[in-house]
Amino acid sequence: MTKVLRSVVTGVGGYLPDEVVTNHDLAKFVDTTDAWIVERTGIRQRRRAAPDQAVSDLAVAAAERALQAAGRTAADIDLIIVATTTPDLTFPATATIVQRKLGAPIGAAFDIQAVCSGFVYALSVADGFVARGRARCALVIGAETMTRLMDWTDRGTCVLFGDGAGAVVVEPGEGEGTTDDRGLLGFALCADGNKQDLLYVDGGVSTDGRVGKLRMQGNQVFRHAVVNISEAVRAAAADAGVEISQVDWFIPHQANQRILEGVARRLGIDESKVISTVAEHANTSAASIPLALDQGVKDGRIKPGQLLLLEAMGGGLTWGACVVRL
Ligand code: ACO
Repeated sequence: MTKVLRSVVTGVGGYLPDEVVTNHDLAKFVDTTDAWIVERTGIRQRRRAAPDQAVSDLAVAAAERALQAAGRTAADIDLIIVATTTPDLTFPATATIVQRKLGAPIGAAFDIQAVCSGFVYALSVADGFVARGRARCALVIGAETMTRLMDWTDRGTCVLFGDGAGAVVVEPGEGEGTTDDRGLLGFALCADGNKQDLLYVDGGVSTDGRVGKLRMQGNQVFRHAVVNISEAVRAAAADAGVEISQVDWFIPHQANQRILEGVARRLGIDESKVISTVAEHANTSAASIPLALDQGVKDGRIKPGQLLLLEAMGGGLTWGACVVRL
């Protein structure tokens, strides 16, 4: 049988800043309650980066753990992709700052901006390098300081988000061209720019020169999320040539427990197969999938050789899914 080059996830790592912000903490300065947030979102707490922590610091901490899990060092890396909506600076790319801080001397480094879908988009781009033999050791990182984009007077958004970072190491591996191969097996990436007004930041370099604050029509986003994510999951499974029923673990973007449950119901996925970290992490945008993956690997639920389905939707709107055998 012809051998094919696959992009194999060889290490996973995550990092959460120390400060825990509970719903009760938020209720002290915004008109909300722990009961409302838990009932509508499943969120109980989120982490907040320290004032002197930039998103690159979170990314580096997650990357170091992923490298250690893969048995690699910074000297091995020849590609760094950071999915982030909250870069350290307008330029250079956070990925080049991560490269410097890690002491990774060679290769390409750039950012991807697809908001909460950024990690799935970034994996697909990394696959384009690794499975073509153009990178031998890629770091794919999702890292966010979403709390810095919050309008802390808007109870409809400020209770939903948190900070964190997750990373994976992706390396080439030989496969048989079947769904038993380890590696990134299938993707679906989508966008609909007509839905920009549902979720966006109201500032930017080439408009008003401000950073801006996150704005969202939550109930509209919710409606689109369940439908769009379900479509992307079906498309990615078809691209990989697997049935949804074969998937061992669903690792969704952690926006809202009700979205996770809505998608699972729509696709006939048993809830026991869904990794949920939304209660502890809240929505960490591009970081949420690798953080949930890290959690599942660390607590022993996710094992090497298992079939995983990652999915996300975010501002743009953008959405997508990826099938990976670990
Ligand atoms: N505490 C108390 N009351 C609140 C809060 C709050 N934190 N936020 C909103 N409310 C109130 C509203 O003001 C409104 O009051 P009113 O009826 O007096 O006007 C009422 O609750 C209902 O508001 P809705 O927005 O209709 O509430 P909904 O049930 O849709 O829940 C939520 C809001 C949690 C934002 C939900 O729509 C949601 O999770 N949407 C998905 C958005 C999301 O996750 N976005 C993240 C980025 S995209 C992604 O990652 C998929």
